[in-house]
This record gives sequence, C-alpha cells and structure tokens, in this order.
Amino acid sequence: MLLKYSVPHRFMADITFGSSCILVLLCYQVLTVDVPREGHYVAAVYEHHVILNPNPTAITDRQSALELMNRNLDIYEEQVMAAAKQGAQIIIFPEDGIHGFNFTRTSIYPYLDFLPYPLSVNWNPCKEGYLFNDTEVLHRLSCMALKNQVFLVANMGTKQDCTHSDPHCPPDGRYQFNTDVVFSDSGALIARYRKQNLYFEYAFNTPPEIDYTIFDTPFAGQFGLFTCFDILFYEPAVNLIMQHNVKQVAYPTAWMNQLPLLSAIEFQRAFATAFNINLLAANIHHPDLGMTGSGIYTLSKSFAYYNMKSFSGKLIVAEIPVVLEHKTHMNNTVINNIQTSFPSFHTDTQVCYKDNEKACDAISKHVSKEASPFFYGEMMYDNFTLRAITEPKGDIHICSNTLCCYLSYQRLVLSDELYVLGAFDDLHTVHGTYYVQACVLVKCGGLNYTTCGQEVTQATGLIDFQLQGNFSTAFVFPLLLRSGVTLDSADYLGWKNNYYVMQKKGGSSGLVTAGLYGRWYEKD
Ligand SMILES: *[C@@H]1O[C@H](CO)[C@@H](O)[C@H](O)[C@H]1NC(C)=O
Ligand SMILES: *[C@@H]1O[C@H](CO)[C@@H](O)[C@H](O)[C@H]1NC(C)=O
Ligand SMILES: *[C@@H]1O[C@H](CO)[C@@H](O)[C@H](O)[C@H]1NC(C)=O
Ligand SMILES: *[C@@H]1O[C@H](CO)[C@@H](O)[C@H](O)[C@H]1NC(C)=O
Ligand SMILES: *[C@@H]1O[C@H](CO)[C@@H](O)[C@H](O)[C@H]1NC(C)=O
Ligand SMILES: *[C@@H]1O[C@H](CO)[C@@H](O)[C@H](O)[C@H]1NC(C)=O
Repeated sequence: MLLKYSVPHRFMADITFGSSCILVLLCYQVLTVDVPREGHYVAAVYEHHVILNPNPTAITDRQSALELMNRNLDIYEEQVMAAAKQGAQIIIFPEDGIHGFNFTRTSIYPYLDFLPYPLSVNWNPCKEGYLFNDTEVLHRLSCMALKNQVFLVANMGTKQDCTHSDPHCPPDGRYQFNTDVVFSDSGALIARYRKQNLYFEYAFNTPPEIDYTIFDTPFAGQFGLFTCFDILFYEPAVNLIMQHNVKQVAYPTAWMNQLPLLSAIEFQRAFATAFNINLLAANIHHPDLGMTGSGIYTLSKSFAYYNMKSFSGKLIVAEIPVVLEHKTHMNNTVINNIQTSFPSFHTDTQVCYKDNEKACDAISKHVSKEASPFFYGEMMYDNFTLRAITEPKGDIHICSNTLCCYLSYQRLVLSDELYVLGAFDDLHTVHGTYYVQACVLVKCGGLNYTTCGQEVTQATGLIDFQLQGNFSTAFVFPLLLRSGVTLDSADYLGWKNNYYVMQKKGGSSGLVTAGLYGRWYEKD
C-alpha cells in the first residue's frame, strides 16, 4: 500500500528536480564542458565501494533490502551527476554494486526487482513507475539517467516468475538473475543482459538461453554487454565481438585480483587489445577483498585505475574515439598480413656488459651459470613448467603438452630478482573450468625457485624481450604489467607463422608479468 503511493510521489519529485537540474547542467555544459571532438564521445566508469550487508545470508524484508540498496544508489546518484558535469554521455557501474554479494537463493529474494520482459520498447520506469510492483531500483536508476541525460549501465538482481511447463523453471517457481540493465538518456529501459557464466553465485540462475545483448547509442553506435567472469568464455563475449561485430563493450564486474596473470586491469586491457575494441570496465572497490581495477580502454590509450590503499570509490571520465574499424589479432586474414611487417628482434649486449658489468655478475651469483633445468611451479592453481632466467641475456624455451614458449631476453637493470619463463597447456580446474594455453615471463616471490608463481606486485628488473609461443588457439590475450600493478603496452604484438609474438624493449618500471594468455575455448 505504502509502495503504491510512494512511487508517484517520487516520480513527481524527480521530474521537478529533473527539469531544473537539466537546465542547470545545460548552462554549465555550455560554459565549462567542451563538446566531444568529432568521432569521439565521453565515457565514465565508476569503481564503487559498495556498502555491504554485514550478514548477507540472513533473511530480511523488502523494506530493509531497499534501505541498504538506497544507500548505494545515493552514491550512484552523486556520481552520475559528477560524470554528467564532466560531459559524460554514458556511465557504467560495477556488478553487485547495489545489492552486494554472498547471498543465498532465499536471502537475496527481497533485493530482487521484477524486470518485465520482453522489454516493452517504451517503458520508462522513472515516468511510469506505477506500471509494475517491485521495480524501485529500476525506477531510481531510470530517474538518474533521465535527470542527467546520460546512458546508464548498472548491475542488479532481478526475478521472473515461471511455471513448471517451462522445463528450466527452478522448483520454487521463479528465476533469479544477475542482470545488467541499460537506460537511455531519457530514462527508458533499453536493454538487459543476464549473466551467463556465474561465479559460484548460488543466489542466481543461468538464463535458459544465452543473451546476446547489444544496445544502440546516438553518440557511439552499438555497445555489447557482458559481466565479470564472462570475459574468460566464448559465450557470449567472444561471439558478440566476432559474430555480432560489437566494437565497444560495457563491462560491469566484481573481480578479485589474482596475480600474476589475472589482475583486473591486466586482463581488461588484454581483452580490449586482443579484440581491438573499446572496453568500459567498472569494478567494485573493496581492497580488503582484493577488489580494485577499473578502466576505459581504447585502441590507443587506457585510463586505468587500481588502488589498494584508498577506501572510497573512483570516477573515471575520458573522451575516447568511437571505434570504426575492427581488426582483431585473432582474425586469420589479418594474421597472414602481419607476417611481412614483423620486425626482427636483436638483443643489444651493450647495456649490460659495458655499463653494468658488476650488476651482471651480481645476478649470476644467485643462480647457476649452466643452462638451468626446467622445474614445476604452481601459478594460480595451475602446474606450470618453468625455466629460470640465469644469464644477463639469452634464448631459452620451455614446453607443456603441445605448447612451446620461446624467450629471447636481455636484462637491462640487473636487480637481485629471479625471473622465470613458464608454459602451461591444460585444463584449469580450480574456481572454474576452462582450458588455458599460456606463455609467461614472471618475477618470482623471492630467489628460491619454490617462490615462482607467487603473487608479486613490485619489481625493479628491466628486461628487453621477445616472447612467443606456438598456440593452438587464435585467442591469445597479451599481458604486460609493471611494478605497482601498472599497465604497459608492447612494442609489437601479432602472429608470425604459427607463433604469437610479443616484443618489448625498455619500460618505465620493473617488470612484474609479461604473458601470452591463450584461451582454447573448444577444449573447455
Ligand atoms: C564472501 O565470500 C567469500 C568467499 O566465500 C569470502 O572470501 C568473503 O570474505 C565474503 N565477503 C563478505 C563481504 O562476506
Ligand atoms: C502490486 O501489488 C499489490 C499488492 O500485492 C497488488 O494489489 C497490485 O495488483 C499489484 N500491482 C501490479 C501492477 O502487479
Ligand atoms: C577477417 O578479416 C577479413 C578482412 O578484414 C574479413 O573479411 C573477415 O570476415 C574477418 N573474419 C572474421 C572471422 O572476423
Ligand atoms: C606437475 O606436473 C608434473 C608433470 O606432469 C608432475 O610430475 C608433477 O607432480 C606436477 N606437480 C603438481 C604439484 O601437481
Ligand atoms: C609446438 O612446437 C613443438 C616443438 O617444435 C612441437 O612439438 C609441437 O607439436 C608444436 N605444437 C603445435 C600445436 O604445433
Ligand atoms: C627453498 O625453499 C624450500 C621450501 O621452502 C626449502 O626447503 C629450501 O631449502 C629452499 N632453498 C634454498 C636454496 O633456500
């Protein structure tokens, strides 16, 4: 009853405030915000420090659930306004940013909005909030988009009744989905995406059929949409890009960093680079849970954020180019063309021997001068085959199953640090099952070989290198991470015959990870 009346009230308030706000903003924009350059648009992502339910498995009621979610939505509202003031035309919020996580199927129920589907083209929850019950979250998000005239992408929990004539219908007679929703700048609900690859989220169902969600914008054309763990799988992410020709992706995530290969910004950047797309990635900010790392990634430039010290959220706003052409490193036609332009790689002995003779000796003291034997080491629960870098320069290789990885290297700054070349070609089975082929050059946790594969965030070693592998999959994601978990880009990436190659000379800080992370989707 209370609900029935409160919705129109909110609606009135929003419209009144909305129109005055829009007027203010327009004036403000004219005075202080440049209109984006031709072929560009302004995108925003918000890394949100989600206010969590301290006891997510306890059963609560809708009113209490809304109280908690409204506290998060209050922050969203401030950020949408801040982004709009900077000229943002689209803003992305992270996965689980409104309701939090660690619920059970029952305890999340009061947090779920009803999401009508199929989407009636014209439903505008802000203007027509009275049409459906249990749509308070949709209503608030819609009003934020309308008031600030921005496209808005957010993640929330939704419910949908089903009957037992539907063979997929859960026994309790309803679906519960981890859902991304998209509102246009007039507040209309224009798209939804239900997460396909759930990450041990027992509160939610996998949708009975895969959502390939694409939405259209007047400023940048089409965007694809998927969520968090989806980024590691073929469906729907790769299919959207390869078959549906998506060139820009909005990506809500709640990603726990895992070094050395799966830190949030590291993989976000690798994904955008591999497919040559714009990726707008918004992560949860919870350093105590290992969650930070968001960014706006374009073909030429990245605006990434990683901060383990701050305990508040972060808004990233950037003017970026609309992607028109779409050449991925994964297209075989492109692969063949690249071969001719492949540069040769020479390690230059000068730096080490002439300038740094003492340092060269220093590093050699710790490890044998002999070509080191291979050994096994666990990296992110996978049994990698490893070989240590023992010389100031050299060529080494290491194989695992059918994958062989080759490294030509030259250490520039000779630090007291141990680096290894590693290969892995097998099914990953812990916290998800997926087939990985990886060639990596990583810094170990210490000087003992048993420390290789550990999580390391700081390094001083500078290494010129060419890393390559004869992958069986075309889907190779290039990783390049430096000290302090900062991103770098390779000098060269691409295929040479049957080898995927990464080259890099120099660098601004120590090397933490250089990697070619291949996903062999057919073998999952
Ligand atoms: C959620 O669950 C994970 C794994 O079970 C745990 O590590 C984490 O601390 C929990 N987070 C909260 C906020 O309860
Ligand atoms: C909303 O819920 C109320 C109370 O349960 C019910 O009377 C009403 O018919 C519902 N409205 C809609 C649109 O479903
Ligand atoms: C690869 O690129 C060529 C030329 O740009 C194009 O015709 C072809 O459709 C692309 N193939 C895939 C699978 O994207
Ligand atoms: C890693 O793989 C090798 C070769 O198959 C095996 O001998 C070794 O026991 C494995 N190590 C672990 C920790 O599973
Ligand atoms: C990769 O190279 C190794 C060594 O030459 C070879 O044994 C293996 O079959 C190759 N793998 C593929 C997929 O060609
Ligand atoms: C390396 O670590 C292992 C296990 O912690 C230990 O047994 C071994 O003695 C260490 N080796 C050296 C050279 O310190």
